[in-house]
Amino acid sequence: MKILLVGFGVVGRAVVALLEEQRAALYRGHGLSPSIVGVIDSKGAAEDPRGLDPAALLEAKAKHGTVAAVAAHGVTGEKDTELIAESEAQLVIEATPTTVKAPGPSLERLKAAFRTGKHVVCVNKAPLAVAFPALQELSRHNRAEFRYSGTVGGGTPILALAQECVRGNEVVSVRAILNGTTNFILWRMDKQGEDFDAALKEAVRLGYAEADPSADIDGIDTATKVVILANGVLGRPCTIGDVRIQGIRGLPKARIDDARKRGQAVKLIARIAREGLTVAPEEVPSDSPLNVPANLNCLGLELKTGGEVALVGRGAGGPETATAILRDLIDIWHTIGSAR
Ligand SMILES: NC(=O)c1ccc[n+]([C@@H]2O[C@H](COP(=O)([O-])OP(=O)(O)OC[C@H]3O[C@@H](n4cnc5c(N)ncnc54)[C@H](OP(=O)(O)O)[C@@H]3O)[C@@H](O)[C@H]2O)c1
Repeated sequence: MKILLVGFGVVGRAVVALLEEQRAALYRGHGLSPSIVGVIDSKGAAEDPRGLDPAALLEAKAKHGTVAAVAAHGVTGEKDTELIAESEAQLVIEATPTTVKAPGPSLERLKAAFRTGKHVVCVNKAPLAVAFPALQELSRHNRAEFRYSGTVGGGTPILALAQECVRGNEVVSVRAILNGTTNFILWRMDKQGEDFDAALKEAVRLGYAEADPSADIDGIDTATKVVILANGVLGRPCTIGDVRIQGIRGLPKARIDDARKRGQAVKLIARIAREGLTVAPEEVPSDSPLNVPANLNCLGLELKTGGEVALVGRGAGGPETATAILRDLIDIWHTIGSAR
């Protein structure tokens, strides 16, 4: 299968490494032989319809800061959307930064892929947050497959397991912790007695939070995942404008201390219920499955039959997200194979 990779950062590079590591197993187990025919970063691209050498890609990026430096295969000055539309790739992996305030370019890239009949694996949450229903419609219209399991839960297959729970059952409501950084901050405030600023500083020091942590602490990242869960698992068309969002920026330590005295813990809860979609700090009993420590994620589903189901796992990381991409790739490979 010919693949075009857009974004060659932490996740993009981890994907290339994982495909190499798994090459023999993918062929043995699935008859799948992936070939990277193009890579695009912010400064240019590299293309070879016969397949690019992973070592040459990694070396060019490390030495020159761009894949456009790959000898004989570098490309500069072309628009991403044109490279995508003209590529021989059958599948596009979108792994550029999630920028919810400026989703335009990533949205255009996905549209270019679908309009030219290419399947898409997306780990960038921005285009899904603002245009999920439209993208799903466009992919179906062009008979292209669309997967995005790395957008929620990183390597933990939250979406796939949630989809499994929904089969033949009804989800009454969802309560989830979908952002490891904010969970870490609230957990430190609770367990170490730190105030918000000290806990945030520790999250930055450990590499859990970005230098600009706004998307995490203002609840935007969690809201994007609410939109993806609501559309992708519950079949509820919505965009980020439909989510009421309250983050944890500057949350007073007194609120955490007060909750603890009552046997409760404050968590940033993503909630999908009949009444609406919300992200807000809420209290949960300290023995609730949602009271997960450190930077873990937790998905809690209330099922019509069977009651509560909870899934706990790590939410992020380059190698973990690369495994989610590989899972999607295998899934698409079998889906298009069975359609032939
Ligand atoms: N890292 C994780 O743990 C994780 C987990 C789940 C989901 N994700 C999602 O995965 C995506 C990638 O994350 P990451 O950690 O790999 O980010 P990253 O390390 O910042 O890499 C982003 C890559 O995208 C490239 N890029 C930026 N703008 C571009 C443009 N206009 N056209 C083409 N390429 C462009 C960058 O190019 P340069 O190299 O030239 O700067 C870089 O190679 C994000 O949407 C993130 O939310 C990440």
